[in-house]
Amino acid sequence: MTDLQSTYVTALKNTHALELQALQAMERQVERLERYPQMKAILEAHIEETKHQRDRLATALDGQGSSPSSVKEGALGIAGNLAAIFHAPAQDEILKNLYADHALENYEIAAYRSLIAIAERAGDTASVTAFRQSLAEEESMAARVAAQIEPVTATYLELTLSGETASR
Ligand SMILES: [Fe+2]
Repeated sequence: MTDLQSTYVTALKNTHALELQALQAMERQVERLERYPQMKAILEAHIEETKHQRDRLATALDGQGSSPSSVKEGALGIAGNLAAIFHAPAQDEILKNLYADHALENYEIAAYRSLIAIAERAGDTASVTAFRQSLAEEESMAARVAAQIEPVTATYLELTLSGETASR
């Protein structure tokens, strides 16, 4: 039988690993977005938010007498698969990254809602407050990414149709 605390610690570690993967994916993209300044700014802002989210998870792990574990690349299911998409060089790389960003933020929303439910059950009230802040940031980022779908596609189309590189 697995007890509540170890279940909670596992959820904290998984979410921490997810945030590390998200950070890596965003940092890789941001270097390659010179033709999409608005998307670049959105990602840069969320990179800073994500660092705070990572720290909140580390604090919660500390409170449980644990610490983040190192993650093997690709060991994270959908997040690992998304990270692979983030690298493919192609004319439509920007579109694939956009879809992956959209998926990743919604994946994170699900992860935080689940983590909050477990943290509540574990009675970690301080962390619940912190994770609600992270959840609100993920929801806001998901909306910001969703709002970029049409404008980024329009820029991509314009560049492609005029024979320019639209990939980044
Ligand atoms: Fe996020």
